[in-house]
Amino acid sequence: MRRLRSTEPLRRLVRETRLDPAQFILPLFVCPGEGVRREIGAMPGNFQLSVDELVRECEEAKALGIGGVILFGLPETKDESASGAYADDGIVQRALRALKRQVPQLLVMTDVCNCEYTSHGHCGKVVDGDVDNDETLKWLAATAVSHARAGADVVAPSDMMDGRVAAIRQALDGNGFVNTPILAYAAKFASVFYGPFREAAESAPQFGDRRSYQMDPSNGREAMREIELDLEEGADMIMVKPAMPYLDLVWQARQRFDVPIAAYQVSGEYSMIIAAGRNGWIDCERAMMESLTSIRRAGADFVLTYFAKPAARLLG
Ligand code: PBG
Repeated sequence: MRRLRSTEPLRRLVRETRLDPAQFILPLFVCPGEGVRREIGAMPGNFQLSVDELVRECEEAKALGIGGVILFGLPETKDESASGAYADDGIVQRALRALKRQVPQLLVMTDVCNCEYTSHGHCGKVVDGDVDNDETLKWLAATAVSHARAGADVVAPSDMMDGRVAAIRQALDGNGFVNTPILAYAAKFASVFYGPFREAAESAPQFGDRRSYQMDPSNGREAMREIELDLEEGADMIMVKPAMPYLDLVWQARQRFDVPIAAYQVSGEYSMIIAAGRNGWIDCERAMMESLTSIRRAGADFVLTYFAKPAARLLG
């Protein structure tokens, strides 16, 4: 076996998995104001960006050949009914209009969820101390339509309510957005690895946790069922999230479903590599490329990753 490993040209020739910046989606956090570029403490190299700064960031992403971006919003105010999520002049809607005007060739996805917009930080409408599934679907459908209206190329629901893909598909079609694809966060787990994101998006739940709607990390068969249901409801693409601790599920999904599969290398996966690198415990650059290669080798077609820019630069 060692013959074909002996030189870099030979290794390059027989390499089975390659990375391309087109396979990376860069998550970005957009906030109110002007000239704001606030670094996120637990995610060095990532920022809360006002719309003008977001446009600059996206111009850079486009120049690097990155596949696209996915937007998360930090609204001016939060309330019980997540009104900032589906407001026509909401933060993500404003960002979309600016991006479509100023960086028209860049693919822009939006995260469709409520946790950044509710005062309690849960992903839906809270009734009697728990998130009400069907009431939440109305907010999600309204949010998806308002994103499509503002120019979103893809909407990506991450709330984990039952029936959200069908509700969103119906609302999009009913409002003339028959061509807006849905990327469903289909197998999304109640993971500790989202910790740093909640600082970035200021979306930590104020009471309890998300285990009544996000999946139990123990359940792989159930993940396949979630994916199947989302596809039946009309999802165009599906996602497994987080990525590295769930590569078995990326692989299983690859064997079973012939649709584009995304994996989300989440904030905690990113921050662990950065932190170990800063401590001199690991070579950060190599860990970045090895982790992305592994996610692709497991079967993901594209990866949502905070490493999109440095990895694209390295692939240059
Ligand atoms: C919103 C959402 C979350 C993430 C993506 N969309 C947070 C959560 O579910 O608590 C996490 C992404 C990351 O950790 O990078 N529901």
